[in-house]
Amino acid sequence: MAKGPAVQKMFDAIACRYDLMNRVMTMGQDQRWRRFVVEKAQVSGQVRVLDLATGTGDIAVLACRQCTTGMVIGADFSQNMLREAQKRFVDEPVSWQACDANCLPYQDQSFDAVTFGYLLRNVDDSLVVLREVFRVLKPGGRVVCLDTTPPDRSLTAPLVRMYFRFGIPLLGRMIARDKAAYAYLTGSTLEFHRAEALAALFREAGFGGVGYRKFMLGTIAVHWGSRG
Ligand SMILES: C[S@@+](CC[C@H](N)C(=O)[O-])C[C@H]1O[C@@H](n2cnc3c(N)ncnc32)[C@H](O)[C@@H]1O
Repeated sequence: MAKGPAVQKMFDAIACRYDLMNRVMTMGQDQRWRRFVVEKAQVSGQVRVLDLATGTGDIAVLACRQCTTGMVIGADFSQNMLREAQKRFVDEPVSWQACDANCLPYQDQSFDAVTFGYLLRNVDDSLVVLREVFRVLKPGGRVVCLDTTPPDRSLTAPLVRMYFRFGIPLLGRMIARDKAAYAYLTGSTLEFHRAEALAALFREAGFGGVGYRKFMLGTIAVHWGSRG
């Protein structure tokens, strides 16, 4: 069964507690990773930026502040997440738009940069989305992706896995009042591509200069690349 409708319903349900849960679950680190995403997107001046799966809008707004004279679209298929973004950032000139990342309503080669945080783990086929992103990027345009990633084998891996299996669903129940949504986060992270495999998918979609950096004991990865 396609993931889309269930994912959309889940984010619609947790939208109003999403930000608080993020801050607690990541021990306040999440904004640092988003700033790194915008740094790697290298946006400045008169550029067009698309932040997909924008959720409550943090990456879109950071990009908007960076490219003061450009145009930033924050797009998501959850109306409630977009509503939260609009409420949080009333004064920011981001254009909030509803769309599905599998089938983007934008013309070929229309953006200088496309960013997305925690999108690919939620779609049926990462390659379909990456090809769509490639299509809408201008030649030379940059893609930057932030997501969770399965932890590598290391001394800390058992602790990290315990946090994912028990800590996050418990926090989800206490803070977001939705244990299932955060049990889903754990499941989808542990089943997601390892960072190197995801980098290979970026290359398969056509991107060059692909690289990545991991954070938070190897459980978060930021990947980047460009359309040649
Ligand atoms: C975990 S939130 C991330 C929000 C934001 N990027 C951040 O950094 O906090 C994932 C978002 O992806 C959106 N999403 C998931 N699948 C999508 C799809 N196929 N098309 C558009 N948005 C999608 C969800 O609605 C949700 O808002």
